[in-house]
Amino acid sequence: MFQAATINSANKADFYKELCQQLQGLLHGESDAIANAANTSALMFEMMPDLNWAGFYFLKSDSELVLGPFQGRPACVRIAVGRGVCGTAVEKGASILVEDVHAFPGHIACDAASRSELVVPLRHDGKILGVIDLDSPTAARFDTEDQAGVEALARIFVAASY
Ligand code: SME
Repeated sequence: MFQAATINSANKADFYKELCQQLQGLLHGESDAIANAANTSALMFEMMPDLNWAGFYFLKSDSELVLGPFQGRPACVRIAVGRGVCGTAVEKGASILVEDVHAFPGHIACDAASRSELVVPLRHDGKILGVIDLDSPTAARFDTEDQAGVEALARIFVAASY
């Protein structure tokens, strides 16, 4: 049985270092992408404070993301590339930090409680496979240290699963 260890780190860099170690341990020896996305979502949702949604969208064609494993309220299933925060992150090929979702043109609201969002692309061999999406009920919950930390988690997920 995997038990997430409490992380008491005073700063975010150390927090993500420990979270990455826990994710490495959780995914070790498993390469099924759905199972690994499910466990990655569960670990993020349990360990990262102040989230109301944590999960995956996968590119099923060049033009559309489809909902993958997640924790939180039921979410919209399909997002066109270029739409919403998730589709924009894929189109730009870059992570997107949104301090206030109400100020992001085209933001797709899946949970009315969401106030801020972080979307990180999943990359493998120069291709984008999908995104990790995190929502928080608190405005400006995520900063560049969270972005760097979740980008590291995304690399661990991809390395284990593809
Ligand atoms: N807000 C996202 C949609 C996905 S939900 O937040 C889970 C977006 O604008 O792409």
